Amino acid sequence: MLGENKSYQRAVEKFLQVFGTAPEIVTFAPGRVNLIGEHTDYNEGFVLPIAVDIFLCVAAKVRNDKLVRVIAADLDDSDEFSLDEIVRDESANWRNYHRGVAWVIQQNGIELKGIDAVVASDIPIGAGLSSSAAIEVGFALTFLNFVNADIPRPTLAQWCQLAEHKFAGVQCGIMDQMIALLGKKDHALLIDCRDLSHQLVPIPKGIAFVVADTGVPRSLAASEYNIRRRQCEEAVQWLSESLEKPIKSLRDVTVEELGMVFSEMPDPIRRRARHVITENERVLSFQQAMREGALKRAGALLLASHASLRDDYEVSCRELDAMVQALTSVDGVFGARLTGAGFGGACLAMVHEGAIEQVLEEVPRKYKAILGNGSPEPKIFAVHASDGAAVQKLND
Ligand code: GLA
Repeated sequence: MLGENKSYQRAVEKFLQVFGTAPEIVTFAPGRVNLIGEHTDYNEGFVLPIAVDIFLCVAAKVRNDKLVRVIAADLDDSDEFSLDEIVRDESANWRNYHRGVAWVIQQNGIELKGIDAVVASDIPIGAGLSSSAAIEVGFALTFLNFVNADIPRPTLAQWCQLAEHKFAGVQCGIMDQMIALLGKKDHALLIDCRDLSHQLVPIPKGIAFVVADTGVPRSLAASEYNIRRRQCEEAVQWLSESLEKPIKSLRDVTVEELGMVFSEMPDPIRRRARHVITENERVLSFQQAMREGALKRAGALLLASHASLRDDYEVSCRELDAMVQALTSVDGVFGARLTGAGFGGACLAMVHEGAIEQVLEEVPRKYKAILGNGSPEPKIFAVHASDGAAVQKLND
């Protein structure tokens, strides 16, 4: 089934064309959509993402030297470096993901072998589906396959995260790498980002998830993201002094405790803290609602999450708000919210399975009507919870 994937075909065909031989393996890495728990991962909180059935593929063959050659089939660009000297590439950021991953793995004492590889992806870039975690995870499993190293997946997720911090320059949390590696068909994954413990949460029958890309690229995402992280650290500092208890992260503060000092706490850090602390509670309530099949309750939690991201965390934008409004105006939509870092990108909606067609048909029109002239072109599609990344050997 995975072989019918479009990025798979493109990667394998390009590999044959460029290297004149077939690849030995193809690694599949999924995109992800976070159902709820936004900007909580780097505060040691809870998240509830799904891996989706849209993949990035790395077709690869091992070499008998230390050279890594990577062709980006969709960008018409290539990269070449030696495993003996891995440095950041300032000219094209896509190169830093596989470089960073190779660097981190070797830093952990595993000596890698060179590879020839082609990467192709059906995960839209900048839409908030985490194409970056997919490329990291895809290359990590590819490199490790050729040296027969079996690393526990939560550890590998941490290595990929470190690669993104050090080489791509985004201080991302751990959610995207964890779900890309540990996702499971028909399930969401409840992750406790404090210790990386995780549990599968079955998706109730009869509901579907829709991704609605606003068409606005997440241009401010990296800089604003890093600012939000700093503000959370400031909030932790302020709260530990005022509450007179040791606080390691916002995870350690309850809604009641925040309430006790909220009026004295400076803005905006008090609103940043309120978002994170209430969002953690929403994640736990949402997963409980999913387990009980309480779909209306789950939908209301999605809307509350969006409001908190918009008003307290200030990572929404006009287009994301318009999309939530358009989605929730259609019958059969339980709830919707921005998903991923925000500042553009996509919304997620939880819908009745029978309402998908109507959502796909009506929402673009409604979205454009709300925004008026010059509205960006939205892209709306249904996604299904899929398995995490896997290596497929071609001669199996
Ligand atoms: C990005 C990061 C994640 C997470 C989300 C916000 O996707 O990569 O780690 O912080 O933003 O929830």
